Amino acid sequence: MNIIGKRAWEMPEHLATPEHLFFNRRQVLAGLGLAGGMAGGLMPLPLRAEEDPSAGLYPVPRNSSYVLDRELTSEELVSSYNNFYEFGSHKRISAAAQKLPIRPWVLKIDGLCDNPQEIGIDDLLKKMPLEERLYRHRCVEAWSMAVPWSGFALAELVKLASPKAGAKYVRMETFQNPDVATGQKQTWYPWPYVEGMTLAEATNELAFMATGVYGKPLPKQSGAPLRLALPWKYGFKSIKSVVRISFTETRPVSFWEEIAASEYGFWANVNPDVPHPRWSQASEELLGTGERRPTLLFNGYGEQVAGLYAGLENEPLYM
Ligand code: MTE
Repeated sequence: MNIIGKRAWEMPEHLATPEHLFFNRRQVLAGLGLAGGMAGGLMPLPLRAEEDPSAGLYPVPRNSSYVLDRELTSEELVSSYNNFYEFGSHKRISAAAQKLPIRPWVLKIDGLCDNPQEIGIDDLLKKMPLEERLYRHRCVEAWSMAVPWSGFALAELVKLASPKAGAKYVRMETFQNPDVATGQKQTWYPWPYVEGMTLAEATNELAFMATGVYGKPLPKQSGAPLRLALPWKYGFKSIKSVVRISFTETRPVSFWEEIAASEYGFWANVNPDVPHPRWSQASEELLGTGERRPTLLFNGYGEQVAGLYAGLENEPLYM
């Protein structure tokens, strides 16, 4: 582990602790400099879909199997309140993220698979069955959103790669470009951002590669052009701006796990009864609404995913 400075990497506690974290729409807007009416303030950046060669693909048909128990979060909030440490360890990174070049964008598929390859994002998009899904998104910091992702099932990408019999895990990696992502100049973080999951999790119907949102290509701050969405896990597992997917026999060590394994583990399944070492996970703030709700086991997706964990009861599944 490569950390300098005393706990310099920590998510600020005032953002992470429910007692201290009580965002309502006004507070979020105030934090963005938008309080007192939108007119004179800093408006969230437009999504600039017209510059993205994939813009014509959207909107895509909605898969009606995925229904929400809450209103969708506003597009403005989803595109202006982000965690993307490559561009800063705060939420207002959307302007800085515009520097990220997203074409050409090549995804490398490697490791234990029969079809290793490097494929450009637009060629990949042509091969994948695109659909829209409405998902809950629960951050480990005890806030949540409800987001209409567009994209394709990760299982389709796994099928394209054709994993070998020995492959047990899927490892994903974000781009590395400190010239545009100045957060990556902070050398105490173990860049690039890495995430991992079991092959069984990756092929679960819920695991989704998002390429768009709100019927448009993903904005850069949301992880364009390709990000993961694992809605039953804490949001840090949903790695952004993926450039590499590898099939491995050994369990990958993820970015946050390398920094603080006792706080951000490999499994990170949402569970209201298992607190984070520094705060409760019992409830969440529905960002933009002022509402606080009890958190659901597996973020409400137990029907689809609980079976993945049979026989793994001795693992720290919920941190
Ligand atoms: N992926 C990368 N590459 N870098 C990050 O800092 N943050 C994670 C996850 N994926 C992060 C990342 C965290 S902590 C969360 S909660 C979600 O992205 C936030 O996604 P959002 O900004 O679209 O809400």
